[in-house]
Amino acid sequence: MCGIVGYVGSDKSVEVLLGGLKRLEYRGYDSAGIAVIGPDGALEMRKKAGKLQMLVDDLEARPLVDGSTGIGHTRWATHGGPTDENAHPHLSDGGKLALIHNGIIENFSELKAELVAEGVEFSSETDSEVAAHLVAREYRAVGDLTEALRLVVNRLEGAFTLLVVHADQPGVVVGARRNSPLVIGLGDGENFLGSDVAAFVAFTQRAMAIGQDEIVTITADAVTVIDFHGTPVEATEFEVTWDASAAEKGGWSSFMAKEISEEPDAVMNTLLGRAVDGAVHLDDLEPIRERLLTVDRIIIIACGTAAYAGILGKYAIEQWSRLPVEVELAHEFRYRDPVLNERTLVVSISQSGETMDTLMAVKYARGEGAQVLSICNTQGATIPRESDAVIYTHAGPEVAVASTKAFVAQGTALFLLGLHLATIRGTLTAAEIAEQVDDLKAIPDKIRRVLETGDRIKTLAGWMADTRSVLFLGRHVGYPIALEGALKLKELAYIHAEGFAAGELKHGPIALIEPGQIVFVIVPSPRDPRSLHPKVVSNIQEIRARGARVIAIAEEGDAAVLPYADEVLHIPLAAPLFEPLLAVVPLHIFGMELAAAKGLDVDQPRNLAKSVTVE
Ligand code: F6R
Repeated sequence: MCGIVGYVGSDKSVEVLLGGLKRLEYRGYDSAGIAVIGPDGALEMRKKAGKLQMLVDDLEARPLVDGSTGIGHTRWATHGGPTDENAHPHLSDGGKLALIHNGIIENFSELKAELVAEGVEFSSETDSEVAAHLVAREYRAVGDLTEALRLVVNRLEGAFTLLVVHADQPGVVVGARRNSPLVIGLGDGENFLGSDVAAFVAFTQRAMAIGQDEIVTITADAVTVIDFHGTPVEATEFEVTWDASAAEKGGWSSFMAKEISEEPDAVMNTLLGRAVDGAVHLDDLEPIRERLLTVDRIIIIACGTAAYAGILGKYAIEQWSRLPVEVELAHEFRYRDPVLNERTLVVSISQSGETMDTLMAVKYARGEGAQVLSICNTQGATIPRESDAVIYTHAGPEVAVASTKAFVAQGTALFLLGLHLATIRGTLTAAEIAEQVDDLKAIPDKIRRVLETGDRIKTLAGWMADTRSVLFLGRHVGYPIALEGALKLKELAYIHAEGFAAGELKHGPIALIEPGQIVFVIVPSPRDPRSLHPKVVSNIQEIRARGARVIAIAEEGDAAVLPYADEVLHIPLAAPLFEPLLAVVPLHIFGMELAAAKGLDVDQPRNLAKSVTVE
């Protein structure tokens, strides 16, 4: 899940490549490198282990001659540790060819053995270097970089995006993709390639998507796309709606702080044009309009935070549309021989649109005859292109590794889907739908009010910097919020944290409660028709009696929790199904602030990368 950028244009490759890598650093940040073909036709490379800044420092100390053609890479290690040698680009052909790679070449051992037998010497432990030497070998035979790469990709197994340049063919970057992202940026007298549009959005907002198993060749004035058989392909152009500033920090201490502050906009923009005059308008569903009428079951597939949004969606969709909904982790789904047919609607959720586990599950589901609707935040990504229909969330680029604003946007998209299904199935009246739509549209302002409590949460987090374990309890729609709160603490603050359904407490987890144990409790609304509120208040009493320190997230005016909780974080009143979009916000802030209090990098937690494009 590395970040990739390629450029052909004027003599400013270094600036373009470093700018692109900066915006792609969220994809991987254990080493970075660039290779540029200078005006004298020589290829020069710099690469460094560590964050991008290490490469920037190295380039300052040892500048390279800038040129009009180059490639850049920021790495998340798979094969071979994060060292200078294993950083990309990898060179071949006596330093005339440079190649960068995202993904995993599964048959690299046998290919490497073949090259070693021919006397090729390797300078890294990566699978990627194999591709560099193979392309060099083919280039010597055919004298054309596109054809050389085409011959090689047909021998590779696994997932890859590859970009390659050769000093003997300056002014050209060739890229190929299989199960790994690559998009084209179209400029004026310059063209770009990137893992996603963030790589080039500072220079152009015109982009083209590249399909599965396709090869693209860019020069300053032309873009050509062929498939792996060499057949020309017509690529489709689209306009990027993000601007460069949207992908930058804009004065916040971290991308995560900025993205949490954008949670109200993420919900509002996802509703824009879709929740109008008390009704839901999902034109996005047009490609599957007819088939939606025959759906008898929904399976939501996703990973991590996106899967928790899926659980939230399940409660609403079942309640409103009376369709049975299952939520399954994408990596479990396709290995269990699920029962699918043309009446099954599979809904995939992915912020990046590149998560390999989710992508593979989508392909599997379609292969088995299910229709696949994807909820995705990234235009031009792979999952939407492999789906029958897409609802794009409009959360804007999410750069911090931990997902925040995408979660509330995903929840919103699922609520819209549930209301749409209820409309076409006639399970809610127009008046009931209108009421939900109005309640949903009020959520962004309510999230803004929760954000105003950020300082209090920061103080709380400051007190808890030495905490070693935190538990989270929730019920019904509060349950996925408990899971999400725990995940954020694990991944950001490296603290052991668990989320439980509060009803499960007595079936085991209560044994964990000892004096001083911190427990967050997401308290259902006292207005909730299921009467879960008193049950959760009883849970609070049970754990308090055993010495737990309780932090309750409860709606304003909920007096019943006050005597039992050590701290209460209030959220504004909202329709009970939508309250999780408010309750999650303090937990996002808490995870971030606790990590910050421990002096950790909240945007780039250890061992993680933003989009997990390997299985
Ligand atoms: C957690 C987090 C991950 C992602 C998961 C899916 O904060 O960000 O759990 O939610 O890796 O990623 P996407 O949504 O890109 O498929």
